[in-house]
Amino acid sequence: IVAERDALYAANDFARDFFVKSLNAPQASQAREYMKKREMPQDVLETFMLGFAPDEWRALSGFLQGKGVPPHRAEKAGLLVQKEGGGNVYDRFRNRIIFPIHDISGRIAGFGGRVMDDALPKYLNSPQTPIYDKKRMLYGLYQARQECRKTGVAFMVEGYFDVLALYAHGVRNAVATCGTALSPDHVRIIKGYAKKVVLVFDSDTAGINAARKSLPLFEAEKVQAKVLVLPAGHDPDSFVRDFGAKEFLEAAENSQDMIPFLMESAIARHGLSIEGKANVVAEIKEQVAAVSDGVTRSLYIKQIAEKLGVDEAAVLDAVRDAAKTRP
Ligand code: UTP
Ligand code: MN
Ligand code: MN
Ligand code: MN
Ligand code: MN
Repeated sequence: IVAERDALYAANDFARDFFVKSLNAPQASQAREYMKKREMPQDVLETFMLGFAPDEWRALSGFLQGKGVPPHRAEKAGLLVQKEGGGNVYDRFRNRIIFPIHDISGRIAGFGGRVMDDALPKYLNSPQTPIYDKKRMLYGLYQARQECRKTGVAFMVEGYFDVLALYAHGVRNAVATCGTALSPDHVRIIKGYAKKVVLVFDSDTAGINAARKSLPLFEAEKVQAKVLVLPAGHDPDSFVRDFGAKEFLEAAENSQDMIPFLMESAIARHGLSIEGKANVVAEIKEQVAAVSDGVTRSLYIKQIAEKLGVDEAAVLDAVRDAAKTRP
């Protein structure tokens, strides 16, 4: 089993070499242009070993074969796809910018790939393999680990380019999940490097839902979680490119606690009519119930009751109900 895992890491190393080499090949001028447009400096390309998968069906396949990696192993590593019923194998990643995903000891566990136009899916990620579990993988943690330890803070962002742009601007403690929701394992892993996590999700519905779902996970692990809301339409990548690292870090200083953030966001959407208030409580009661410290929880309940102008007992009731049905 160890030998098998080692063989998969070796296959990924060859693949990474191939992708990096391909980004520097004459045919990849479009990919290099794309990286220039995204303002990726050379040192970031190198630190994160960014690459390019050529627009061919069997470019990597052929390269791996030449390195003595048998197709079945390349398939197991998620690099090749085998058509149902055997026969045809082809490269999983084609005509995409490639993001090698390092595990915490610096080995390449998998890859992400982005198209350079509006084609779908925008991002493609490695499938589950014996060495790649998306529920445990945090993009950028390998590069961010020292800064996380030093500052005690980790920024949790949504995407690959968010991690990279922040890093390019000197904010070197950002990580991202790889195309999946935050999991209990992610939180346990990040806890080994930072005691405080600042969530920087897009301020759209998906981002707010992600924040709602993540709160119980942080509470369960007793990791302090804050939310940084960027101006509408911005993600960390665009924000730090437009306004710089200083503004980003200043905004981070003013990041909010989760419950007040969720409450305000719910009020903004539901309003303060009778129905609106009921919806606000319904939306956040589970999150309040998940707050593990009793004193803190009761203070939040009080704060919500005051803000909505409802009886504290009513909010408490709702939260107790939610607690009963918590998984
Ligand atoms: P976003 O759509 O916010 O993309 O998805 P982004 O990171 O800002 O990308 P750019 O700036 O357009 O290049 C956030 C993250 O969700 C995952 C990826 O990890 C992405 O970085 N995702 C998104 C997927 O896995 N698949 C997709 O098709 C889209
Ligand atoms: Mn988004
Ligand atoms: Mn985004
Ligand atoms: Mn983006
Ligand atoms: Mn800049």
